[in-house]
Order: sequence, then C-alpha cells, then structure tokens
Amino acid sequence: MDLRPGPVNAAESAVALAAAFTEAYRRAPEGVWHAPGRINVIGEHTDYNDGLVLPFALPLGVSVAAARRDDAVLEVRSLQAADAAVTVSLDGTGPDQVRRWAGRERWAAYPFGVASLLRAHGAGGASLLIDSDLPQGAGLSSSAALECATALALCDLYGLDDLAADRPALARLAQRAENDYAGMPCGIMDQSAALLCTAGHALMLDCRSGLSSQVPLDLPGKGLALLVVNTRARHELTGGEYAARRADCERAAALLGVEALRDVKDLGGALARLDDPVLRRRTQHVVTENHRVEAAAGLMRAGAEAELGGMLTASHLSLRDLYEVSWPEADLAVETALKAGARGGRMIGGGFGGSVIVLAAADRAPRVREAITTAYTDRNLPTPEFLNAVPSAAAHRRLPR
Ligand code: GLA
Repeated sequence: MDLRPGPVNAAESAVALAAAFTEAYRRAPEGVWHAPGRINVIGEHTDYNDGLVLPFALPLGVSVAAARRDDAVLEVRSLQAADAAVTVSLDGTGPDQVRRWAGRERWAAYPFGVASLLRAHGAGGASLLIDSDLPQGAGLSSSAALECATALALCDLYGLDDLAADRPALARLAQRAENDYAGMPCGIMDQSAALLCTAGHALMLDCRSGLSSQVPLDLPGKGLALLVVNTRARHELTGGEYAARRADCERAAALLGVEALRDVKDLGGALARLDDPVLRRRTQHVVTENHRVEAAAGLMRAGAEAELGGMLTASHLSLRDLYEVSWPEADLAVETALKAGARGGRMIGGGFGGSVIVLAAADRAPRVREAITTAYTDRNLPTPEFLNAVPSAAAHRRLPR
C-alpha cells in the first residue's frame, strides 16, 4: 500500500467509501467510522511494563463503512485488497483457529477478533468495507486503527452506547482482539491512542492505572516541525522479537521481586542484582524511558518543546543499544538528521522496521529531509517517505454526520 500525502479530505473520502460499499454489497451502509494511526512522541516498550506513554493521533487512519446483517456472520472487504474478501461465522470460530489464518485472510483477524469479543456485549453480524490511507508495516498502528474503527462501528450499529462511551474499556477489548485473535502480544498504547487522543494534544497515559491527560502540543506555533519518516523497512511484529522482549521484562521483574519494571525505583541497585547482562540492558531502558516520558511531558507543559529533541535522541540510543529493537535504516535516518541540524530523533513503535520521528526547527526541516533522502539514495535504499505529523482527533463516526 502506498503512502498518500495527507491529510485527505475526510468528508469526501467517507462519501466515496459509502458509495463503494453500496456497489460491493448491493445495499447502502448504515454509517462510516474512522480511527487514526498514531505516532508516539516518547515512551517505547513501556506500555506492557505498566509504564508511561505519550502518543498522538495522526490525520491518517482506517475508515470502515458498515451495515448490520441479520445473521451472526462477519463479512469483510478492503479497498486495499480487493481480492481478499472474507466471510466467516462469528459462532464457532475461535481465537486458536483465527490465529492460524494465513495469507490473504490474515488481515481479517483484527476486525473478526473485535466482532467476536463484541458478541458477548450484544453485537451481531455485519458487512464491512475498509479503506486505509495509513501505510501498513510502517509502525503507525494500522492494526489498532482497524480494530478501533470496527469496534466503534459495531457499538454504534448495535446500540452498545455504554461501551462506546467507555473508551478505555473499548481500547482493552481491541487490545484483547489483537492479543488473542491476531496473536500479537501488544500492550495498550496503540488502541488507547486511537480512541483517546484529541486534536492539538499528545496523550499522557499511565498504562497501569489507565489514567490519562491531554498535553497540548503546538509545534508549528514554536517554529518547530516533527517529521515522520517511513523508513520503508517493513516491520512484522507477530514475529518472535516483540514477545521475546516482553518475556525478558517479565523475567527481570520477577527476579527483582516487583510486579512490573515500572516499579523499579533504585535503578543502580536493580542493575547490581541482575546477573544477566541482557536483562540489565532491558531494565535500564524501561526504567530510564519512563523518566524520559515524564521529563518530556514536563517540557511540553512548560512550553519548552524545542528541548524535547534531546529526550528523543536519548530514547533512540536506549532502544538501539539497550533494548536492541532498532534497525539500520532507522539509525541512518536519526544520525543523518542530527548531522543536518535536527534537534533530535528516534525510532517509534515496536521496532525492527517502521518509522522514525525527527524534531527540527521548521526552517531547517527541508534540509533535514533532503539529507535523509540523499543518505538513503547513496546506500541504494528505497526512498523514505515523509508524513506531516499533526496531532489529530481520536476515532469517530464520519457518516451520517
Ligand atoms: C507496538 C505495540 C505497543 C507498544 C509498542 C512499543 O506498537 O503494539 O503496544 O508496545 O510496540 O512501545
């Protein structure tokens, strides 16, 4: 899927999706819902350690046109994969079976997982047509956007108003769909970003308590630009590395006698107690990253956004050297950006492919962008793609308005 320059005209694309639904299913949809992708300012691999994250929603995302069916069947099609229609009964198709879906059916595990879990709340079957302007595998949470747009659609269609209004609960349901049906043991950050963010703000989320607050983020107002660089090295998180990092953290927490690495207060003491150098590195990343999130939120609240650069770069080095989830194209983008005068930058998301964010003075951003493109071209890497990161709204209904 190609990255389209955003933001797209939301109203027009919702109308076009509704028309495409009518053509595909020979009946009109009952509505169109949208959920955004996200970037994460800082707080990587902290969510499943009960820690802190600071993401914001992108203007790009996933839209779902939907109509109820009078049986318990989920029918899903996507404008991005016209040949991959999937029709499955919600009754008698369990998570174990869905996790084994391969090839063209695989993407349907996300909406199917959500629809299955919503059965217990009273939702039934539906026909869905999905459209996305988020690149997949770019670490911008296209899966969470798909889950959350589907969840909101089904809640609205089946009158599950209490659940739709309880967005933290809906985020947990979407996360469970991804864990159980897609087999990806993700934390709660991406689904929370898709459902809780507000325009013009980043979301400070405590992943243990579920408490969140909105932190204003106006970079252009401060003469700054945040570039999102899709390195075009695709990430595939259902692979073992993500689960392996989670297991490392759980092992370290158990050895230290704490519930989660979030609870480590004395880092020096904890490192002295861990014999395994790998577990020491993982612990050091998680503990320091939580402090960086607090510091970054503090800088943002103080209106000192330019100082975030140092935090971003420190996070990247920690993810590269201690957590070991960075990848060569990300390191190249960050190093090149710094040399070209950016204030800081880091990989975002789970790692092993995906995107990087770079903070730069607005008047320097074109030079930074050019330097990254040249560095990639010089090494025969695919041309990176740049997105403008504007803090945008969470999931919502787009039609009828
Ligand atoms: C992926 C997961 C999130 C989070 C990040 C790393 O995006 O889905 O839950 O763990 O990786 O911060």
